[in-house]
Amino acid sequence: MIVAVDGPAASGKGTLARALAAHLGLPHMDTGLLYRAVALNLLRWGGDPDSEFAAARACDFSQLDFADPELKSETVGGVASRVSAYPMVRSALVERQQSFARQPGGAVLDGRDIGTVIAPEAHAKLFVTASPEVRARRRAEELARLGVHAHYEDVLIDIRARDERDTGRAAAPLCPAADALLLDTSDLTIEAAIARAVALVESRR
Ligand code: DC
Repeated sequence: MIVAVDGPAASGKGTLARALAAHLGLPHMDTGLLYRAVALNLLRWGGDPDSEFAAARACDFSQLDFADPELKSETVGGVASRVSAYPMVRSALVERQQSFARQPGGAVLDGRDIGTVIAPEAHAKLFVTASPEVRARRRAEELARLGVHAHYEDVLIDIRARDERDTGRAAAPLCPAADALLLDTSDLTIEAAIARAVALVESRR
């Protein structure tokens, strides 16, 4: 079974995808990490984020440790959102994601274009949303737990900018697939959101 979990930044899609993978006994891929890896390479190699060619060159992961905590930083997330708009970057990463999705038994993938581009054949597609204010509050709390002080207002501005870039780009913009099941987590606890996601996916089994 292939399960696609898409949604905007800090919507809770990663938490839900991990919980679904554990529930279904399937491997999970956080595809945002691939775009973050491109961004981190680019920053470390001194490449220009405004150059599609430089970003495409940064799609070489032979030197990269996917456990590097720097991949999760806000700076890297912001650059990831910019480089992910380049068609050359997106096409360099398609095959890795599609072969993960199509492994025997299936997989759970979370990202922005899983249900629309990477695995349109997915058996269950969830589109996870939450209001920008709720997402900003969650992200600010998460950063505080990591010891990073961030003002709620700044995080909200960043979330809105990220939404605009992710939904407004020409290549594989963030949007729900026609057959996606919508899950708004704004008023749900983590436990309630997981229970709802499991029920939605089970309804497609
Ligand atoms: O989910 P995330 O915040 O780790 O993703 C970082 C950026 O990567 C996000 O702003 C857009 C991009 N991305 C994408 O374009 N397509 C995906 N499938 C996953 C992430």
